[in-house]
Amino acid sequence: MSTTPAILVAGGAGYIGAQTCKALAAAGYLPVTLDNLSTGYAAAVKWGPLEQGDLRDRDRVQALVAKYDIKAALHFAAYSLVGESVRDPAKYYDNNVGAATAFASALIGAGVGALVFSSTAAVYGTPSISPIPEDHRTVPINPYGASKLAFEGALRWLGEAHPFAWTALRYFNAAGADPDGEVGESHDPETHLIPNLCKAVLGTGPALTVFGQDYDTPDGTPIRDYIHVVDLAEAHVLAIRRLLAGGDSGVFNVGTGEGCSVMQILGAAERVLGKPVPYSVGPRRAGDPPSLVADSSRLKAAFGWKPVRSDLDSIIADAARWQAERTY
Ligand SMILES: NC(=O)c1ccc[n+]([C@@H]2O[C@H](COP(=O)([O-])OP(=O)(O)OC[C@H]3O[C@@H](n4cnc5c(N)ncnc54)[C@H](O)[C@@H]3O)[C@@H](O)[C@H]2O)c1
Repeated sequence: MSTTPAILVAGGAGYIGAQTCKALAAAGYLPVTLDNLSTGYAAAVKWGPLEQGDLRDRDRVQALVAKYDIKAALHFAAYSLVGESVRDPAKYYDNNVGAATAFASALIGAGVGALVFSSTAAVYGTPSISPIPEDHRTVPINPYGASKLAFEGALRWLGEAHPFAWTALRYFNAAGADPDGEVGESHDPETHLIPNLCKAVLGTGPALTVFGQDYDTPDGTPIRDYIHVVDLAEAHVLAIRRLLAGGDSGVFNVGTGEGCSVMQILGAAERVLGKPVPYSVGPRRAGDPPSLVADSSRLKAAFGWKPVRSDLDSIIADAARWQAERTY
């Protein structure tokens, strides 16, 4: 049997999952992707096998655990469009809670006792303090955030009932692309600011809409904490390593602790890309809090993690290169 420990990566054909597969392979693991390709790309799966299938397929999950001798799993496979979740909450509960719980249960049944889950800052709703620590109250303001919080709850109870350790990583805004151009962000529709501004500058997408300039922030636009996808991927490798070494379950924010407004991002993009971003100001988007900035001190202390590529210039330059040269 191979000495390379195999990790099952549900959603490994997506933006963050694919980048994490690259990081896992570099760290000496075999990433085995389970993905139904509903929003992902077969072309993004480059560092291990692609097993096309659904999270809900218990027999398939258990057969994969046996086939590859899976040691731990990562769960990225969810729907994550906030607006769509408001229009169709059942779709979000079905996939982000129902399918996710079926997946965790199948893993436990097959003897896999470690799972890292992609949670989100959306679990906090509209926070009362900034930066936000993990023990801040969690009152999501849309079904997407609520579905992620519900699955965190399921993990907690599964961990009580079974020999099962889990880590929920609450990401703030994932951004950037692989510096080598091997994988990147290709959501359809794309709702994220940085890929959309890159497309606007490149002329491959429409002028950007800034959703609201009347927030209670210094320049009136929302403030977010942008984390480079490479730094986020590294947090997953550390989380897997920690669980495999017997680390306990828990919730961790993943962000830089630095907030940037939309207008600050546009200014940085103009500087990095050498061209102004064409944009207009539209109304606020429902469910957008004024500011979301992470207190990641718990993650730093437990994992020895620190962001190394999350400066705005690297994020924007890597994202723009991907949008100009993207292969899928
Ligand atoms: N992108 C962000 O800024 C951000 C922020 C916070 C949290 N997250 C969370 O991180 C995770 C990954 O985000 P992403 O941007 O890479 O998304 P993505 O849509 O690019 O990737 C999700 C992948 O999961 C697959 N998938 C979905 N449902 C499935 C199912 N039932 N069975 C098998 N495969 C399935 C999709 O085909 C896709 O490849 C998501 O859970 C998302 O909610 C993302």
